[in-house]
Amino acid sequence: MPRSSILLVASATAGASTAAYLTSRIEGRRTRRAIESARQQLVETLAPPPAATPEQRHEEAIVGLLLGRPEAVGRGVATPITDRLYSRLHDSDLAAVRSRLEGHPADLYAVADPSTRKRLTLNLAAAYGVLPALERAGLSARMPPEDVHAMARGPMAAGGDVFLADLVFDALGHAGLEVPDGATVLDFGGSSGRVVRAIAAGRPDLECLACDPNEDAIAWAAGNLSMARFFVSPQRPPIELPDGSVDMAYAISVWSHFAERPAIEWLAELHRVIAPGGALVITTHGFDCLSTLLRRAHVSTQTATAAATAMVQRGHHFVDVFGPEGDWGVRDPGWGNAYLTLEWLLSCTQDDWAVRLNWPGALDQAQDVVVLQRR
Ligand SMILES: C[S@@+](CC[C@H](N)C(=O)[O-])C[C@H]1O[C@@H](n2cnc3c(N)ncnc32)[C@H](O)[C@@H]1O
Repeated sequence: MPRSSILLVASATAGASTAAYLTSRIEGRRTRRAIESARQQLVETLAPPPAATPEQRHEEAIVGLLLGRPEAVGRGVATPITDRLYSRLHDSDLAAVRSRLEGHPADLYAVADPSTRKRLTLNLAAAYGVLPALERAGLSARMPPEDVHAMARGPMAAGGDVFLADLVFDALGHAGLEVPDGATVLDFGGSSGRVVRAIAAGRPDLECLACDPNEDAIAWAAGNLSMARFFVSPQRPPIELPDGSVDMAYAISVWSHFAERPAIEWLAELHRVIAPGGALVITTHGFDCLSTLLRRAHVSTQTATAAATAMVQRGHHFVDVFGPEGDWGVRDPGWGNAYLTLEWLLSCTQDDWAVRLNWPGALDQAQDVVVLQRR
């Protein structure tokens, strides 16, 4: 019954004092209800959150461990290839590049350390078409069009990836492995040739080969870059090269994509192709990669947890990220994103390869660089 009706009935039947009594009863009930509701709210606010599931506790622990790792050290890579290229330039070449500097490259050039500035000069000579400089260095200005696979584009990528060329030879040097004059070198998974073109220019004494299953990338490179021999390779072994015909091979961002089986099969195939004592430089995704990707929010906590858990349990983790469309048309269920530990690599290479060097997180704080020597 509404309050006004109660008061009306009350005053009609029992007089004003009864009405006052009823009014105070009603007010009392409302106050108690308000107190009860506030108490309820307080209980809910102070109550501990629902207990975390074992999966949530596991994820929290793994993410905590990954984020607790010291950040991977960005390695100051020496300049073994850059120095060869840069030393061929004349002052007039440097002046020509500097005179064309503008925008973002100019900003980078202004703050670059001496090694980076040398690499930048070579790239910008290609980007700005400083022909005498390119001729002297042996670089080409040609760049793959947008519809051809290339891992980097734009002025800072023009002419080829001198940094990665340096990284390969710096790692080999630290591993105590020389690449002798006249050696045969293979860029395995070389795409449209950004690395091999820089190596071949820096070391014209080498016989440079590059392969990739991406037919368009290989066709473009074969038609535009004369410093190396490009050929299409199959998704799975064998490759069309004789036993022991290669002295050094490298694979940038390739074992970081192989499922466990192709990863092992291709190690065996390159063991066949590389001569005894020869070297294989690979880059892989390890724990540093997961830490860095988490810090950069480039990977979900679930994905990082699944990868780290599998790496601890089995040493290798694979995720099919390309699906039926494939990676630029390269379709293979064994090609996706892969994470692996050095222990896994050691366990499946020990009879065939000696691990001569491991630089965790050396490439962009995300990829480990490993040098293997063929036994
Ligand atoms: C991430 S890209 C790196 C390309 C090149 N190494 C670079 O750094 O510019 C990976 C390359 O591996 C190639 N690839 C895919 N499956 C391969 C296989 N089974 N054997 C060799 N290369 C493969 C891809 O087509 C792609 O060009």
